[in-house]
Parts: sequence; C-alpha cells; structure tokens
Amino acid sequence: MAVVLTWGAAAQTGLTGIWKIHSDMGDGTFQDVFLNLKQNGSDVTGSIVRDYSAREIKTGTFNKGKIHLEVNLWREVVETYDGMLKGDELVLTVARKKSANEPNSFSHQRIAKHDSGEGMNPPAPLPVPELYDVADNGLVRTPPMGWNSWNHFAGRVTDAVVRKTADQIVATGMKDAGYIYINIDDTWQGARDAQGNILTNKKFPDMKGLADYVHSKSLKIGLYSSPGPMTCGGYEGSFGHEVQDAKTYAGWGFDYLKYDWCSAGRIYKNSDLQPVYQKMGAALVDSGRPIVYSLCEYGDGDVWKWGPKVGGNLWRTTGDISDRWESMESIGFKQIEIAQYAEPGHWNDPDMLEVGNGGMSNEEYQTHMTLWALLSAPLLAGNDLEHMSKATLAILTNRDVIAIDQDRAVHHPKKTQLDGKVEVWTRELEDGATVVALFNREDTNKPVKVTWSQIGLSAPAAAKNLWTQQDVKLSGDSYTVTVPKHGVVLLRLAKMSS
Ligand code: GLA
Repeated sequence: MAVVLTWGAAAQTGLTGIWKIHSDMGDGTFQDVFLNLKQNGSDVTGSIVRDYSAREIKTGTFNKGKIHLEVNLWREVVETYDGMLKGDELVLTVARKKSANEPNSFSHQRIAKHDSGEGMNPPAPLPVPELYDVADNGLVRTPPMGWNSWNHFAGRVTDAVVRKTADQIVATGMKDAGYIYINIDDTWQGARDAQGNILTNKKFPDMKGLADYVHSKSLKIGLYSSPGPMTCGGYEGSFGHEVQDAKTYAGWGFDYLKYDWCSAGRIYKNSDLQPVYQKMGAALVDSGRPIVYSLCEYGDGDVWKWGPKVGGNLWRTTGDISDRWESMESIGFKQIEIAQYAEPGHWNDPDMLEVGNGGMSNEEYQTHMTLWALLSAPLLAGNDLEHMSKATLAILTNRDVIAIDQDRAVHHPKKTQLDGKVEVWTRELEDGATVVALFNREDTNKPVKVTWSQIGLSAPAAAKNLWTQQDVKLSGDSYTVTVPKHGVVLLRLAKMSS
C-alpha cells in the first residue's frame, strides 16, 4: 500500500527508512544503491549501502523539502545526493567522482518511498567443503602471458574490444612473443535465467561465438567471476552457482578464469578463503575442460601457501595496481620476499601490467617489466593494443626479457641493497647465464658502481644490456653505469667457463 506523506510528517521523520536507487548500467543490467536514512527534523543520518558495504552519511540535512547528503567514497572522494521529497518520491541528483582529479559525473534518480531493503545485506555464508588437494590441471608450466581488459578498458570492455584485441595481438607480433590469453575481466555478466544459468549482458551477445573467434587465431580466452553474489564492479557473481558456472564457461569454450573475492569478503571469514577457492577449483576440474585458475584475493590469507592445493595456477599477492610509479614500485619491489613460492604451474601474481597506459615513463615501464620477469610473474598486458606506441610494443615484446620470465628452471631472484635506494637483483637462468638488474628507485639519475663480489659473482668479461640490446665490455672487479631515475640497467652475463 502506498504511504501518502503529509508535509508535516515528512518534515519530521518522513525520510526515515530504506530508499533504493535501481540504476541502469547501460548494458541491460541494473545495480542497487540503498539509502538507509534516519530523519530527525532537519538532521539526516544513516548510511549509503552498495555491494553490502555501508558508508556513513557524514553530512545530512532536510530543509523545506530539500535533502542534501554527503558520503566519503574513498580517500577524499565525496559523493553527494541533492534533491526534493515530492509526495512519495525522492527526486535526486547524485554527483560522484571516479577519482579525486576527475570532474563529478551526475545521475538523476526518481525513487519511490520505502523499499523492503531486500539485497541490502549480505546473505548467510554457504557451507564450505572439507579441505583436500584438488588435482593439478597441468597448465601454465611457465607463467601465463596474454592480455586482460581491466587496466585500460574497465567497464568499457565489449565483444568488439575483445575481437579487436585478438586481431591486434596477432598483427603486432605480441602473439609470436608469447602473449596468448585474451582475458575478459569484470562487467561481462548479465542476470541468470530461470534455471540459474549465468547470462551475458548486452555488451557480449555471443560468448561461444567470441571464444570461437579468439580460438580461430590460435589464441586462448579467459573470463572473470567472484565467489560472492557480486563482483567488485557489482555484477553477478558465482555464489551458490559454482558448479553450474564452471560448466557454462567450459561449454562456451573458455580457457581461463580469474576468480575475484570481492563481495565474498562480506559473507565469509578470511579463514574460509581456502575452502571457498577450492570449491571453484574442483568445479573447474570437473567441468572436463582445461581451464587456468587465477585466484584474486589481494594477497590475503598467505595464499601462496595453499594456492596450489585448491587447483590455483596463479594467485594475487597484492591489492590492485594502478598506472603510477608509486603503485608499481611499492608492489614490485617487495615481491622478492615470497618469490620462492613461484614454481611451474603455480605463480605469484603481483597484478597485471600497466605498460603503455600512459601514467609512467618508459624507464619506469622497463623497471615494471624487468621486475615482473625476474619474479616469474604472469605477463598480462593491460593496455589498448590498437593505440600503442612503438616504445610500448618494444617493452612488451623484448624477447630477452620475456625469456627471463619464461625460463623453465624458475630460479628465484636474489637482492643486494646498495647505497640509497639502489638495489641489484640477480637471477640465474637455465642455461647457466646470470641476469643482473641495477634498479635506481631514487628521483634523480644516479651513477651506480657495483662490485661483482658484492653480488656474489666472479668478474665477467662481457655482458649484453637487454634494454639497449648493446654488448657491454667489462673489465676489473666492478661495473659503473648511470641508471636513470626510476629506471633499470639489465645485463645478461653468459655462463662463464670454469
Ligand atoms: C578487483 C580486482 C581487479 C579487477 C576489478 C574488477 O579490484 O583486483 O583486478 O578485476 O576487481 O572489478
């Protein structure tokens, strides 16, 4: 029954209750935001709830029928709700920023009074399975290489983008350099049908056709889901549909699944990470199709200790990377602490590459690529391959650097700290060669002198600089070179005859 508010009642408490904004995402799907309000005269308190996360209203007023709400989304980014109560309806303009530097984007909403609040709170956890070791799927004996849509396209990924990327990965020579997986990240999902089968949204009209297209280029294709009811982008997750979804992915012909914790974190405890990931790991094996299993849990729960047991081929070791030196630096340089957990079929994943996305210098992108190669990290390009500079392509396809990443011996890197923020990493390769990376993390170019004995090597006679591709003559017990700010000099020393 509709509640008709009189002006007097509305002025005092009429806003109290739950209001739901049912937003059209423009791809045939909808997402809900709940305004859980408590009005006391001109004061409005409460929270804004989306994806089961409540953000407290930090400023809330109601004067002469006009409402104004402010919530902090993250850091200094504020979302505001301004509008009028008109009879039973709130007519609102919502202003939000995607990041601190971007202008507000506005949406206009007309929402009816009081919602039941269904879907506002997380469901109860599902029972978790007993732990056991899921069979190894035998895939990715060297770190997976390919492309993922998220870092550049985020919610703008479409069927056309994926096809074009497949074309470009071939045309640019990236495929020949080893980039094989074309992975669709978040925002491909639609609703479920009456039998609970996951459907795609309007951006992906034919998943099977898309997989066939990518396979026709001798490439492989991946997609993304979450063990929670919602993905991080608020799209449909696999909660309670794990086995069914694994079968659907296999039926469409997919080869790779990234499985992102997201809303599962508001349902399960962190101690449930392993059994919850095991459930999908087992479902993928049972699907009968070889599917690479990528765990995305931001490095929580010491995943490197149990990732292989749940059938995981790679697992995120950190929060999300962004296209800034500070982000890449803080992620990349600390990974050496867990480098020993990388082994054939089971890889630490410090997140996807940002090379070519424009927020770092080419020297910084060389550092990014060098670190990922030394760490045997997955090399998943995250840029727009159609509009890529020659320098970007050269960084992504440097055969010598890729060979370090893909080296089958999987020796782990060692680090020596020099003066200031200069560090030298070394790694032995299967053929007995040694790579030496001199990293300058300081904000100015820096002459660096490294004594061979300092890094446990005997004086080599020659080396190849892998970024300039030049031969380097060496003599004496040390090597001096200027390393650009945030850059790296990467040398390969051939096996020395003893
Ligand atoms: C999380 C993941 C990202 C990306 C987004 C998509 O933040 O860590 O890599 O998949 O979700 O919503």
